[in-house]
Amino acid sequence: MPDLSAGPVLLRRHRLDDVDDIVLACRDEQTWTWTTVPKPYEPEHAEAYINRTVGTPIDGETRWAIEVDGRFSGNIGVMLDGEARRAGEAAPVGLGRADVGYFVAPWARGRGVGSLALWLVSDWSFREGGCEVVTWNALVGNVPSRRMVEKVGFHVHADPSRRMVVQRGERVDVWTADLLPEDLVPLDTLLP
Ligand SMILES: CC(C)(COP(=O)(O)OP(=O)(O)OC[C@H]1O[C@@H](n2cnc3c(N)ncnc32)[C@H](O)[C@@H]1OP(=O)(O)O)[C@@H](O)C(=O)NCCC(=O)NCCS
Repeated sequence: MPDLSAGPVLLRRHRLDDVDDIVLACRDEQTWTWTTVPKPYEPEHAEAYINRTVGTPIDGETRWAIEVDGRFSGNIGVMLDGEARRAGEAAPVGLGRADVGYFVAPWARGRGVGSLALWLVSDWSFREGGCEVVTWNALVGNVPSRRMVEKVGFHVHADPSRRMVVQRGERVDVWTADLLPEDLVPLDTLLP
């Protein structure tokens, strides 16, 4: 898994010293509302996440820490389906699908960090992840996340998918979207 960068955003492997900032970000009300992170969120959750994340992906998900100005500023990951994993690194073009998930820490929001990170992992999924489509879903009402994927070129589907995601013991409706290689906007349109 390579480091990826564009403008002020660096995507890198997680480190154990990210724990304090992950805990801060995952105790934020917006993160809690729109993702499936546990509540209450404790340092043990962050340590377990990092230990699962560092090294070989064990569950098909490739995850990066988002770093801005030298500080941990979020998580972004792609869950590759079986076709993508079979394509592997030897076959840059594949039939795979990557499903993307992320959060940006409160101190880094509102200045294009999330859209740059999403552009980088989508581009990586097409070039090296063996994918021909990247998919997304967000709980209905998550306007900032929807706006973010639209900026990168995703096509948001007209109707929500009903009861698609379980969030803390409840099935909830989600918006869905997809991105093909030709939809990806030019990177310079997202740079500050
Ligand atoms: C969604 C999230 C990742 C966006 O990160 P970010 O770095 O702020 O994203 P960007 O700055 O690239 O883009 C956000 C866009 O949403 C817009 N936006 C933010 N709040 C908004 C609101 N309440 N209504 C409408 N648009 C809004 C921003 O203005 C920006 O669009 P613009 O560039 O056209 O002005 C971040 O808010 C977050 O982590 N939220 C909590 C967790 C979460 O929702 N994760 C995603 C689950 S699908």
